[in-house]
Amino acid sequence: MKKTQYSILTGITPSGTGEVHIGNFFGVVKPFLEMADKAKKVYFFIADLHALTTVQNKKELQNNIENIILSYLSFGFDPKKVFFYRQSDIGLHAQLQTVLNNVTPLGLIKRCHAYKDKLQKGVSQDGVNMGLFNYPVLMAADILLYEPDFVPVGEDQKQHVEVTRDIAEYFNNTYGKTFKLPQAIIKKEGARLIGTDGKRKMSKSLGNYISVFEDEETIKKQIMSTFTDPDRIRPTDPGRVKDNPIFIYHDLINEDKNQVEALKQRYKQGKVGDVEVKEELLQAHLKKFGQYRKRYQELKNNPDKIKDILKQGTQKVKPQAEDKMRQVEEKIGLVNKYSF
Ligand code: TYM
Repeated sequence: MKKTQYSILTGITPSGTGEVHIGNFFGVVKPFLEMADKAKKVYFFIADLHALTTVQNKKELQNNIENIILSYLSFGFDPKKVFFYRQSDIGLHAQLQTVLNNVTPLGLIKRCHAYKDKLQKGVSQDGVNMGLFNYPVLMAADILLYEPDFVPVGEDQKQHVEVTRDIAEYFNNTYGKTFKLPQAIIKKEGARLIGTDGKRKMSKSLGNYISVFEDEETIKKQIMSTFTDPDRIRPTDPGRVKDNPIFIYHDLINEDKNQVEALKQRYKQGKVGDVEVKEELLQAHLKKFGQYRKRYQELKNNPDKIKDILKQGTQKVKPQAEDKMRQVEEKIGLVNKYSF
């Protein structure tokens, strides 16, 4: 395949507080923008139906969706190149999910971590809602409707893309070749960014994140409360740099590599305190993300422009989804002599 002939697709769920964090940025946005530059077709959507699994408050959902839309547009997606849309504006995602449910074995979904994680957190099997359980099948529908070659995601979504391939194969084996199998693209750098608690993956719902767009005071608090080297009691103690979240973040965010190296050396020698390292990280953050933060405010004051972008995105992708769904309906027998 020629480099410029591929298509890519990815989505983001407006869950948690709807905040975009640096894990999303380095895990997905950055690689996605790099790939989008050379791609033939680029799909980027807001998985608002997926958010219903955890966000069941109208105001909260509306805020999250707005926040996510503004955030991602602020990263500079060119709406002429990127089809930007909301999942719920294209009802066919849910319709294809219903069809795919019927070729998806229960066991496949039981092995998925979206569901298993909940059980591990102590939620009883009977307490898991069907939306959450069925999450991977909706995700398969999101992808298969548009048949992208590549799906850039963070490490945590890898299994879901594999499940999408499995579901596509079950369908193809039952009804004949219909779906192209997508391939997950996971960039090593930032693929599973550690959270500020130093233990778990950075995540909206765990609240262990460093935001990109929140106000400076909030970001400062997030950075200042980041877990560092627990064995280092005083700033004069030699510190550990490897696997230390604050230096992992410096490596990603801080573009002044000489400064990062100098801070690391001083840290190892017990010649710099956590506070200074964190303050430098805040400055690097404001420098790196300042342009996006500014654009966020500009876009927020221009809702008509946003509506127009979403409308255009929807109009561009809808015919493709309709075509694919028609093919599916023909294969399964929903199209017959009474169809009109
Ligand atoms: P979501 O909203 O949880 O996350 C959006 C993207 O960010 C990545 N990500 C991370 N990457 C690195 N380090 C982290 N700590 C980190 N946290 C999140 C995620 O892997 C994801 O790529 N189910 C998806 C949304 C979705 C989707 C799709 C994606 C729905 N349908 C179809 C691709 C294709 C989700 O909840 O991502």
